[in-house]
Amino acid sequence: LRIGVLASGRGSNLQSILDRCQEGTVAAEVVVVISDKPAAYALERARQAGITAFGLEIRSFPGKREYEQAVVKLLQDAGVELVCLAGYMRLVGESLLRAFPNRIMNIHPALLPSFTGLHGQRDALQYGVKISGCTVHFVDEGMDTGPIILQAAVPVLDDDTEESLSARILNQEHRIYPEAVKLFAEGRLQVVGRKVYIKK
Ligand code: GRF
Repeated sequence: LRIGVLASGRGSNLQSILDRCQEGTVAAEVVVVISDKPAAYALERARQAGITAFGLEIRSFPGKREYEQAVVKLLQDAGVELVCLAGYMRLVGESLLRAFPNRIMNIHPALLPSFTGLHGQRDALQYGVKISGCTVHFVDEGMDTGPIILQAAVPVLDDDTEESLSARILNQEHRIYPEAVKLFAEGRLQVVGRKVYIKK
């Protein structure tokens, strides 16, 4: 399975996918990494792993649409079959969705449908929930709204800070994202409406 990863930041989820692919736990290969932030450490990780990496600045394009069309072209040219968003801080638009229907995954640091958006950990902490976690889901036109593939829960402790809770959640992200990719690579995910069934 040929994977393309889109990332805006440090790329620790990218790394967890790379590691599982490299050790052979996940039968897939990351063939291209693209970032909207040319300075993102994710690109550095990709290059260190010998993977083609592109930093595309949206402001060097006439608009969002053209930026995204360029992303789609790079993914298609690399023969990508699954797109993994890993800390990609942009809403996915129509051209990308149409090019990869039910073939784009995202990881979100909260138990969806709670605490969507950019600050899942902080919002959970402020709300006062006792359990939070992370969610891998297929991407649709909404923000963090697509069909849920896997979730993992972690406790929220009385003395948690945004940082400590984020770290606990991140551990689980690094476990379930590669797991979701593995299931996809094995052809075991079946999407029926909002539901994702995992075949035995
Ligand atoms: C993760 O917490 C992910 O859930 C969120 O952004 C963060 C990205 O971290 N979408 P990294 O770049 O993978 O280290």
